[in-house]
Amino acid sequence: MSVSPVVVPAGDFGRAALGIFLEACAPFAAPVVGLATGNTPIPLYQALGEAVRARAIGIGHLRPFAIDEYGGPRDHPCSNRAFFARYWDSIAGAPAVGQFDPESASASREAARLGATLSTAGGLDVVVLGIGLNGHLAFNEPGTERTRGAHAATLRAETRESARACWGAGTPGWGLTLGLKELLQSTRAILLASGAAKAEVVARALKGPVSRDCPASFLQEHPALTVVLDEGAASLLT
Ligand code: PGA
Repeated sequence: MSVSPVVVPAGDFGRAALGIFLEACAPFAAPVVGLATGNTPIPLYQALGEAVRARAIGIGHLRPFAIDEYGGPRDHPCSNRAFFARYWDSIAGAPAVGQFDPESASASREAARLGATLSTAGGLDVVVLGIGLNGHLAFNEPGTERTRGAHAATLRAETRESARACWGAGTPGWGLTLGLKELLQSTRAILLASGAAKAEVVARALKGPVSRDCPASFLQEHPALTVVLDEGAASLLT
């Protein structure tokens, strides 16, 4: 499938992503939503918070799930749990996010637990995804089979390098993640990327071969994908 991204100036990124997100959620009475963390979706959550504050919308009907978590201390300020506390739980009426517990005694059982909870909820209606510099989706690193379900993953050097900006010397070597299986089975998928540093991997994901060398390339086969890019991230798409 050929993917035509929505490309907007950097300053409009959050608003554009919010519009796509709300439109994707609209057909569902209580949408199960997979939520990305990281730098990229921050403008989306900020725009969502502003819309709620302006009483333009409510989000109490959403059923949110984290798509991944670092294998570090549960309450570490760089954990995805801390991210959601800051950018999601701060929005009035925000429902609690279903999350991985990285301190669980068995990482693989914990991954399976959240995968099963998600499955019981009916699977993802809408998923918001970022893309790693190596093409990962959540913590599905290059090499991951597209049929793989939620699992504990070893983080690649490139992923640890990006994480180091926040985690420093304590950067975790592993994480918990929904699998490509759950992400690709979503009814609607939204891929967000911003900044020129992402231009190369965005081009590879959207125009390159569909291959587990670049897990995000599997999105080319998603039946209902919307890609939102700022001009920097879109700069190598012709
Ligand atoms: P970022 O992370 O939004 O912080 O660039 C994206 C990702 O690794 O999925």
